[in-house]
Amino acid sequence: MPVIATEKLTKDYLTGFWTKHPKRSLDSLDLEVHENEVFGFLGPNGAGKTTTLKLLMNLVFPTSGSATILGRPVSDTSMHREIGFLPEAPYFYDYLTAREALSYYARLFGLKDHAVVDRFLARVGLTEARDTQLRKFSKGMLQRFGLAQAIVHDPRVVFLDEPMSGLDPVGRREVRDLILELKKEGRTIFFSTHILPDAETLCDRVAVLARGRLQGVGSVEEIFHREVHGVEIIFELPGGGAPPADLARTVTRTGSRYRAEVGVEDVYATFARLEELKARVVGCSEVRPTLEEYFMKLVDGANQAKQAGGGSQ
Ligand SMILES: Nc1ncnc2c1ncn2[C@@H]1O[C@H](COP(=O)(O)OP(=O)(O)O)[C@@H](O)[C@H]1O
Ligand SMILES: [Mg+2]
Repeated sequence: MPVIATEKLTKDYLTGFWTKHPKRSLDSLDLEVHENEVFGFLGPNGAGKTTTLKLLMNLVFPTSGSATILGRPVSDTSMHREIGFLPEAPYFYDYLTAREALSYYARLFGLKDHAVVDRFLARVGLTEARDTQLRKFSKGMLQRFGLAQAIVHDPRVVFLDEPMSGLDPVGRREVRDLILELKKEGRTIFFSTHILPDAETLCDRVAVLARGRLQGVGSVEEIFHREVHGVEIIFELPGGGAPPADLARTVTRTGSRYRAEVGVEDVYATFARLEELKARVVGCSEVRPTLEEYFMKLVDGANQAKQAGGGSQ
C-alpha cells in the first residue's frame, strides 16, 4: 500500500474580481509515494507544488480527483495525528519563546512531557536559543523551529514545503541531515523544492511538476543514468600550446587545463591524437545529463505544449 497516493487530483482556483475565471493549478495528478521514501517534489515557481501540499493537508479541497495518506482519505482527521507538516511560509506566535511555542504544539497532540520539547529543540540545534522569543530568530533558526514543530508528535509521514529555501549552505545542510535522520527512523518524507541540488543528494525518487502537470517521476539514479551524452577528457598540453580546432566537438579551457567532450565512439581516436600532441591526460569520465538539464527539458516541454494550445489556463 502506498503511503501517499493521489488519483487524478485536480484543483481550479477562481480568479478575477468581477468575473471569476477558473484557473487550473493542478491537473490530474497521479502519484504514489512508498513507505520510508524521501520523495522530492520538484518544479519551478508556480508549478503547483504548494497547491498539492495544501490538498494533501486538507487545507484546500480538490475540484476533482482524490488523495489518500496511509490508506485513509485526506479528510480523515484521525489520520492527521500520524503526519507532520512544515508550511512554505510558516507563521508562529513570535512573542513566545521557542520552548513555549513548541510546548504549545506538543500539547495540541496531547504530549505533556516537557522533556520531549527539550529533546526536539536539541535535535534541531536550538537548545541555547530555547528561551529566546521567536521574533528574534533568524530565518534559519525559524526554519529549524518549524521542523521541530513538524515532528514533535512523532509522525510517520512528514510533509515539508520548500524546507531549504532562504537558507544559507550551512542551514541547507542541516535540514538535509535532519531529513536523512527522519528517513533512518523509518518515516516517509515528502518535500517540495525548486532548488535542484538539494534533491539530487537526498531523494530516493523525485517527481517533476510544471504548469500543474506531472512531467516525469523516477529514482534519481534512473534520471541520471538515462543516457550517456559523451565522454569528457581533461588534459594539459606541453609548453602551454593550444589543441587543434577539430580535436573534439567542444573544447573549453580553464587555466592551463583543457576539457574536450567527444562522442563515446571517438574516445580512442581522440586519445591517439592527444598522445601525438604529447598531452598529459588528467581525467576522463562519462558525461550524463544533470538533474538540472533533465528538469529544464521537462519544463521547456511543458511550456511548448502550452504554446501549441495544449494548455487549459
Ligand atoms: N489561492 C489562490 N488563488 C488563485 N490562484 C492561486 C492560489 N494559490 C495558488 N494559485 C496559483 O496556482 C499556481 C500554482 O501555485 P503554487 O501551488 O503556489 O505553486 P508552487 O508552490 O509550485 O510555486 C500559480 O499559478 C498560482 O498563482
Ligand atoms: Mg510553493
